[in-house]
Amino acid sequence: MRTIQLTAATGIIMILLLVSCVKDPIQTTNSAIPILPEVAYDYVGTSKSVNNIRMPDMDLVNSFSTQFAVAAVTTNVGQSVTKQVQDNNIATLGRVLFYDGLLSKNNSTACASCHVQEKAFADGSVFSSGFGGEKTTRNSISFQNLSLGNNFFWDARQRELNTLVEEPITNHIEMGIEDLPQLMDKLSNTSYYPELFEKAFGSTSITETKFAEAISQFLASITTTNSVYDRAIENDFEEFSSLEKLGMAIFYSDKALCGSCHTGANFAAPDAIDQYYNPSRGTTNIGLDVEYSDDGRGQGEFKIPSLRNIALTAPYMHDGRYQTLREVLNHYNNNIQPHPNLDSKLVKNGLPIKMGLSSLELDALEAFMHTLTDEQMITDPKYSNPFKL
Ligand code: HEC
Ligand code: HEC
Repeated sequence: MRTIQLTAATGIIMILLLVSCVKDPIQTTNSAIPILPEVAYDYVGTSKSVNNIRMPDMDLVNSFSTQFAVAAVTTNVGQSVTKQVQDNNIATLGRVLFYDGLLSKNNSTACASCHVQEKAFADGSVFSSGFGGEKTTRNSISFQNLSLGNNFFWDARQRELNTLVEEPITNHIEMGIEDLPQLMDKLSNTSYYPELFEKAFGSTSITETKFAEAISQFLASITTTNSVYDRAIENDFEEFSSLEKLGMAIFYSDKALCGSCHTGANFAAPDAIDQYYNPSRGTTNIGLDVEYSDDGRGQGEFKIPSLRNIALTAPYMHDGRYQTLREVLNHYNNNIQPHPNLDSKLVKNGLPIKMGLSSLELDALEAFMHTLTDEQMITDPKYSNPFKL
């Protein structure tokens, strides 16, 4: 009886393992080789496309609702691109590295383990599992149009993609590599990297600098410019439903204020260059708690994240505390806490504001956020796992 139970349990575990392998085909041994197109995908062009993202005309947005006045928001944030793809073969190499479990101590964990294309490069977990099964202390961040920002990680501690790359690899929870030169040797001993480095950089030698450059060019290539919203803007939002139009008006209104923090083409922190001088670096405190157990950049300040593809990236916030967009909206609507460092926009007469949005208005905001989903980006083969058959 006991053995049967045990066998059944082992069977179930085996099946679970099998299912998880099928679901998550991360390269974990030297035996698989990446399958790449004969002519490299166009990463240079997609990376440039972020320059063409337009901002909506605020008079038009204002006309979508008589109830809401557009706040004095900076919408036409001058975009300055911090990183561009220089070469399609370099980005291709970056793509292979991004999906390769060899980059972790025990070959179990790739960047893509915690940054999944179908989820706009978030991973759907509150906290993510690293190479040894330990959990990260923050929620994995979704990313796209990274070249429009320079405040990376929840506490904005990184300004540049090239230097960022090393962090997850050497992080003792995430990928656990103690010695980067050793990792370079490990890559040199595969059947495919020397050739891929040669194609990208003209020589088979593998260095940390080239390695970081390749991954960061791949990261910079991940762009979204084809959401429902981006297509609608070309046409004065004619194809938006009335609910989506109302949601957009509320988003930029002086009542909900969303657009005053989630600004610009990327619905993110008022961005780039300026933040080199701006001490807050695109972070602020939105009153999630009276006392924070994770203080972020200090005093409960966290990165103002991009809302692009936001419908795909639950759970939300730096600690993944909210499972749905409605929970996020309920926070802003009537649950902002009186933290001493609360963003001044969220304070009125010394108290946290209560937006008082109706359930129809919350539905509208949610509908608007859904228009930021870009099906093309999340299915584009150029960002997909090259080890998958
Ligand atoms: C075990 C899970 C895990 C792995 C593996 C992992 N990440 Fe992350 N990633 C995270 C978490 C969690 C955060 C947020 C960390 C923080 O804010 O302190 C993050 C944040 C980021 C960000 C910041 C995005 C932004 O907009 O601020 C980038 C970029 C990134 N990771 C790229 C990578 C790359 C490249 C790799 C592989 C070299 C990688 N990650 C491996 C979990 C992971
Ligand atoms: C004062 C600036 C500010 C305002 C106003 C603001 N946000 Fe945010 N938003 C932030 C910050 C900062 C975070 C991250 C907080 C954290 O994780 O601790 C955030 C997080 C979010 C998230 C979760 C993102 C993720 O990837 O987990 C969503 C969704 C969101 N905001 C939507 C909105 C909407 C909708 C409005 C208007 C009702 C709004 N925000 C108003 C600053 C702001």
